[in-house]
Amino acid sequence: KKIALVTGGFTGEAKVSLKSAAVVEKNIDLERYDVYKIIINREKWCYQDASGKEYKVDLNDFSISLNGEKIQFDGVFNILHGSPGEDGKLSGYFDMLGIPYTTSSTLTSAITMNKGYTKAIVEGIDDLFMAKSFQLFENSPENTCKVAQELSMPCFVKPNNGGSSIGMSKVKKVEELQDALDLAFGEDDQVLVEEFVSGREFSIGIYKIAGEIIVLPSTEIVSSKEYFDFEAKYTAGVSEEITPGRMTPEEVIRVSKIAEAVYQKLNCKGAVRMDYFLEKDTGKFYFIEVNTVPGQTETSLISQQVRAVGKTVKEFYTELIEEMWV
Ligand code: DAL
Ligand code: MG
Repeated sequence: KKIALVTGGFTGEAKVSLKSAAVVEKNIDLERYDVYKIIINREKWCYQDASGKEYKVDLNDFSISLNGEKIQFDGVFNILHGSPGEDGKLSGYFDMLGIPYTTSSTLTSAITMNKGYTKAIVEGIDDLFMAKSFQLFENSPENTCKVAQELSMPCFVKPNNGGSSIGMSKVKKVEELQDALDLAFGEDDQVLVEEFVSGREFSIGIYKIAGEIIVLPSTEIVSSKEYFDFEAKYTAGVSEEITPGRMTPEEVIRVSKIAEAVYQKLNCKGAVRMDYFLEKDTGKFYFIEVNTVPGQTETSLISQQVRAVGKTVKEFYTELIEEMWV
């Protein structure tokens, strides 16, 4: 079967996506699948062969022509983080063409790309807590004032539709708030400001095969930086990642139930990764976000979690690919 490995993208996460694609390409089962790396960016959509030569994609049917032969794909392995791979645009395009893909639907992707709207939907799930937050649609003195008055510091300021912590700041003092808002509004026209939760951070991979939701072991993130920022995420050694994360058996059961409920309520598909804080004083799990196209770079968390259950990444990718045709 012919698989298009779709990578690149319109955002600052494009370079992460290219690294993820390289890892998928290295580990995918080449005896089962013919894999074609398709790079999508603002300038072009193209197939890039092993020597780096590029061939234009025909957008009418997402096909390519190689030496006079037209190639159409049986499915898409989507590893494009951010827009247009993770926000539902490509899902809609592939739906219209009737090409199956490994990730969530347009609706689910569009919602989960927006951290504020995602919180509104998962609110109310048993045992799941939310940090107090504001979703801002305008960078104005009134909004800055409101946040400063109503939220306690420290807080996180994030582009609402971003990824990989790009444009995000941890604000410790009210005086730093405006600079953080300016930075985040430089990335997005919506910004989420969230109170800081004191505790440990966990990230959990979760996927569905043949109707069964499988929750992977968590990874605990111990960042030597102020928080798990871009550098800590993608530079080996800057954060310590412990898989499985240090939780009591009761906490593992509780967070797995939460993760499953979040996956179901958002109607996710394929492998997603959810991030939570476990609050120090109360033992409550606080929801941070869902990533519907989680990173698969050499330092990414999902691969660690897959290996922790005794599975190879190759087997995992095969499961995800086969599931799109079920
Ligand atoms: N947004 C990055 C790629 C992740 O969630 O892993
Ligand atoms: Mg993210």
